[in-house]
Amino acid sequence: FHVDTDASEAEKGAYPYYMLKEIDEQPTVMRSLIKHYTTDDGSVIIDDALLDSMKKADRLYIVAAGTSYHAGLVGKEIFEGLAKVPTEVHVASEFGYNPPILSEKPFFIFLTQSGETADSRQVLAQVNKWGYESLTITNVENSTLSREATFTLLLYAGPEIAVASTKAYTGQIALEAILAKRLGEEKDVSAATSFNVARELTTVANGMQELVDEKGQYEQIAANALATTRNAFYIGRAIDYDVAQEAALKLKEVSYVQTEGFASGELKHGTIALIEEGTPVIAIITCAKTAKHTRSNTQEVLARGANVINIVSRNLAEDGDQIILPDVHSLLTPLLAIVPCQLLAYYTSLQRGYDVDKPRNLAKSVTVE
Ligand code: AGP
Repeated sequence: FHVDTDASEAEKGAYPYYMLKEIDEQPTVMRSLIKHYTTDDGSVIIDDALLDSMKKADRLYIVAAGTSYHAGLVGKEIFEGLAKVPTEVHVASEFGYNPPILSEKPFFIFLTQSGETADSRQVLAQVNKWGYESLTITNVENSTLSREATFTLLLYAGPEIAVASTKAYTGQIALEAILAKRLGEEKDVSAATSFNVARELTTVANGMQELVDEKGQYEQIAANALATTRNAFYIGRAIDYDVAQEAALKLKEVSYVQTEGFASGELKHGTIALIEEGTPVIAIITCAKTAKHTRSNTQEVLARGANVINIVSRNLAEDGDQIILPDVHSLLTPLLAIVPCQLLAYYTSLQRGYDVDKPRNLAKSVTVE
């Protein structure tokens, strides 16, 4: 199928692996989304018919798999924050077993880099049978999920070749923010009207650039803390818990380290029993409301011998925090927090001697059930 190479060519060029190239392309993807979806005066361009359909919805259902599902978790925070519309997020392969849709006017959003994931296609086929309207957000024009949904929006991220999805994850979140801003504006939500997409995503792009320009620290941390470990944890609360789940998948799928993305407040209800001397626990702290609580959770695991690494937004940073993130809008911190996690996964995989672009047993697009 045709892929839009707006933000990049499909060649590795000077890069040793596609995954590193695609991590580096993330600032470009942000700027490319601004170019495609906003005008010079900062207003957002979204198809009127799509907007009308979403305005009527009393509940959004985001359906996706893997990393795209994790982008949906952040999407829930963004749609509820900027457009005040109740939003559910479902793993595609789990959807449909629970009671039928309980809302009067549901609207379905499919997040999918490839547009070919069988689990997601099954749900879309059911949604079409039910007669509900849907949007596919994808990186591949004319893909199955794009063709079969009512509406489609493209990421224009350029081909994503590495099995581990990186720029599609951040592209999906940014596009969810663009869409939610426009929807919220239509509904006079103040958080949306004061949200300047071009400015916020430019700040994100600059912050991402700062992070990808300083890779040495991640290579060092991967060597010291992750290269030989059997297991690891990413922890966080609220929007940081959403990121912890994506961060864990990245490390798992390219370095085969048994990694859990865990709600930091939930550790004490059993899972903390797994913490041993030297167990890596990486805390994500970008949310002011929960920073204090997550820090006390890190103290709890530290007391049990964990090797704690903090990834913290600059405005919340304290002495001893290892990785500092530039500050961005509170609903967009996942776009920065995930970059060190992508790089930690990348370097850990290389240090363990694996082919980071083609992890064992994995396919880029899971087109079978
Ligand atoms: C993520 O790094 C994996 N490649 C995988 O979980 C992927 O996100 C999932 O299979 C969904 O693919 P899609 O976005 O193309 O639908």
